[in-house]
Amino acid sequence: MNIAIDGPAGAGKSTIAKKLAKEMGFVYVDTGAMYRAMALYFLERNIDAADESEICAAVKNVEISICYQGGVQQVILNGENVSGKIRKEEVGNMASAVSVYPDVRKKLVALQQKLAAGADVIMDGRDIGTCVLPDAEVKIYLTASESARAKRRYDELKEKGAECDLEAIQKDIKDRDYRDMHREESPLKQAEDAVLLDSSDLTIEETVEKIRTVCREAQMA
Ligand code: DC
Repeated sequence: MNIAIDGPAGAGKSTIAKKLAKEMGFVYVDTGAMYRAMALYFLERNIDAADESEICAAVKNVEISICYQGGVQQVILNGENVSGKIRKEEVGNMASAVSVYPDVRKKLVALQQKLAAGADVIMDGRDIGTCVLPDAEVKIYLTASESARAKRRYDELKEKGAECDLEAIQKDIKDRDYRDMHREESPLKQAEDAVLLDSSDLTIEETVEKIRTVCREAQMA
């Protein structure tokens, strides 16, 4: 059984999916981390995101896999655990920029489908319900207003002690969403059979409870 959670940046997908996976005994798969690992490879080699032929040639040299340490997903890029390195905004933006290329997506979608075939997964991303797992038993499109998502990111970064600017974060989120929603290949959109959930005015627990209800209705829990 599989649960697909899609939505824009900062909607709370990973927080919610991790919590649900733990209580339901599912494996949590963060697909954004895979795109980020791929992006890190290009960034470390100064490959220009706009150079499609160089990106596509380089994809052949990238091996990405995931494993779990204490239940937490780790991303392995050509043998190196890069889970710590991929969380920077710069990497997220590069991931968004290179995820437009079919060669990049093909490689990662194959890995994601293989993982879902071998376990009950809760997978989050942008194209899970529409492309990666079209037959998922439950599909959620999790969103929140742009300002709510920016504020959450801001609070998260502040808590980590990082210097940040709310306006710059909001602009970053807006640009990233636009690119993710308007690319030709598997753009971010709500699957026809997905349940729309706006978490702007909901706590994490309230959001999780709404998804539990959807799962119960689908007789998963
Ligand atoms: O969820 P995230 O912020 O870690 O994702 C980083 C970028 O990766 C996102 O802006 C677009 C891309 N991505 C994608 O195209 N498809 C996915 N299933 C997951 C992420």
